[in-house]
Amino acid sequence: MSKKLEEYVVTIPDFPEPGIMFRDITSVIQDPDGLKLAVDGLANLVKDTDFDLIVGPESRGFIFGVPVAYLTGKGFIPVRKKGKLPRETVSQKYDLEYGQAEVEIHVDAIKPGQKVVIVDDLIATGGSAEAAVKLVEQLGGKVVKMIFVMELAGLKGREKLKDYDVESLIVYEGK
Ligand code: PRP
Ligand code: MG
Repeated sequence: MSKKLEEYVVTIPDFPEPGIMFRDITSVIQDPDGLKLAVDGLANLVKDTDFDLIVGPESRGFIFGVPVAYLTGKGFIPVRKKGKLPRETVSQKYDLEYGQAEVEIHVDAIKPGQKVVIVDDLIATGGSAEAAVKLVEQLGGKVVKMIFVMELAGLKGREKLKDYDVESLIVYEGK
């Protein structure tokens, strides 16, 4: 019998600090069957969704966002950490566990009214995804769905994004 997607995720206790269970996607994507399960699984979540573009946050959102965009025949728009994008941008600050981060998107990347799917590897607190939503909406785009390989349900990211359609391939009940 072939392996399920969750069997490719290696969990590392106490990384990057004591008490954190790190769910590693490198063990998924290094295996061709794991990579295929993850990318096909994400594409399947949007098979009935009408959308124009995929938006993916740097950096793990690139790993999954680009192949899903390719498979679904859409363009890919990167949300990048501040200072990396060469043309005019809008930016958004968001809270990390310690301190703040800032991300940007090119202003010409999304036209008003375009329908966007956000793709990332993980939803934890939902802070990164919420920042991506705000960038899309600043440009007049509409987020029609947000899809993730993994969700840490105990961190309640879904509550932060309760006005949006959120789906994940694997849901872990803890943090
Ligand atoms: C990780 C992960 C998600 C985000 C989830 O990214 O890839 O993007 O955290 O956490 P949240 O829901 O609490 O925001 P990270 O910021 O560690 O950067 P990376 O993708 O560059 O590794
Ligand atoms: Mg990330």
